[in-house]
Amino acid sequence: MSEPIPEPPGWPILGNAFEIDLEFPLGTFTKWADQYGEIFRVRFPSREMVFVTSQALVHELCDEKRFQKGINAALLEVRNGVHDGLFTARIDEPNWGIAHRVLMPAFGPMPIQSMFPEMHEIATQLTLKWARHGSDERIMVTDDFTRLTLDILSLCAMNFRFNSFYHDEMHPFITAMGDFLVESGRRSQRSPLVAPFYRAANQKFAHDIEILRSTAQSVLEARKAHPTDRKDLLTAMLDGVDPKTGLKMTDKSIIDNLITFLIAGHETTSGLLSFAFYQLIKHPKAYAKAQEEVDEVIGTGTIRPEHMNKLPYINAILRETLRLNPTIPLTGVQARQDEVIGGKYLVKKGQPMALLLAKAHLDPAVHGDTANDFIPERMLDENFDRLSKEFPDFWKPFGNGQRACIGRPFAWQEALLVMAMLLQNFDFTLEDSEYELQYKQTLTTKPKGFYMRGSLRSGLT
Ligand code: HEM
Repeated sequence: MSEPIPEPPGWPILGNAFEIDLEFPLGTFTKWADQYGEIFRVRFPSREMVFVTSQALVHELCDEKRFQKGINAALLEVRNGVHDGLFTARIDEPNWGIAHRVLMPAFGPMPIQSMFPEMHEIATQLTLKWARHGSDERIMVTDDFTRLTLDILSLCAMNFRFNSFYHDEMHPFITAMGDFLVESGRRSQRSPLVAPFYRAANQKFAHDIEILRSTAQSVLEARKAHPTDRKDLLTAMLDGVDPKTGLKMTDKSIIDNLITFLIAGHETTSGLLSFAFYQLIKHPKAYAKAQEEVDEVIGTGTIRPEHMNKLPYINAILRETLRLNPTIPLTGVQARQDEVIGGKYLVKKGQPMALLLAKAHLDPAVHGDTANDFIPERMLDENFDRLSKEFPDFWKPFGNGQRACIGRPFAWQEALLVMAMLLQNFDFTLEDSEYELQYKQTLTTKPKGFYMRGSLRSGLT
């Protein structure tokens, strides 16, 4: 006998839609998790979603024989711009398989290491900016990290320079992408009945998509007109042949994926860096240990690729940051067949479900009564491996299985390098010593209203 899935009481037809904080839906979902426990159902006017919030249920839903990635309402809207690009493709769409197999080798250890000099160059631009501003000027942390991650991605992936640190105005592509993502989120919350009344917003949405696609198209055309032997993602997309089908990626699929990489790869990593610095400033002992590690391993010299796997404590800081603040706080799956989960809850085939990582990562069954605390030590390799054996899938910030993040090695090298460079060169404090973490949520989360000050330690290296 199955048990009913708990759910907050809602209104006829409207369900729970009006109870959700539109600016910060995650806040409402975590509140319901506290109230209803490891599983609950939320009803919207035209759909419903089952949320799971414990490590045990997340582990069950990570079984790819029983569950597969689901394209949730927000991703469905993003598909208007990038169609069956890697992130938004349905599992059975052929372009996903072709792009996945063509691109996987480009994220291997050697290609990622070969991107190190360009990552280093952009990280240096950020460091120089903060050094020149001096400690009197407040640092808009998430804005500058977003400039950084976009510039790194566009340079390493397609040899395109936004030069965000040298312009006050953002490049039109960046503005269009930001607006497109925010509007995708808003559209996903609207009832289809009222959607046609949002004419101006719909027109702007279409216009933003046009800017994204025409910019990506011109990058592609420029590369075709001036072939290069650079080993970047664009080269992989243009030259790669899918070993399974013998097919190459079409121009349309290349454009979908160029935009996809910029979308998937910038806010996620900039959010990680922002949360990591927030946590470090709030935890001075961890901050001091991280800085000591940088001083011992790198000193004041130039950071090189071989330093990257000699920074275990900073590695653990990044893992612990993503445990407490997964920048993609929930991922979607659906059942392949009718399933009973947790031994008692029936979920129907195709039922949209969400792994609420922001809550499952804090499961006291895994982390005891320190589950909400920032303790990087628990994420050092030895402890991390032990936890992973005992509690599989307890840490899923990069998603699951074949639909897990293809950009993880890229993001990790980038984040380690940037952390090391900033800790090597600055001492950071909060601009407002009373500041406590608040969130801004679009498709990802990042800190809201978080400003730092940075004073140079010992001159730039
Ligand atoms: C997929 C997280 C950085 C490209 C995903 C997924 C997650 C994730 C959770 C799975 C989403 C789902 O199941 O619906 C992150 C985090 C990052 C990061 C936390 C940084 C800290 C990057 C970067 C890139 C990238 C730098 C590009 C270079 C992608 C792509 C997918 C993906 C293309 C779709 C993969 C597929 O389904 O085949 N990411 N990501 N990500 N990510 Fe990332």
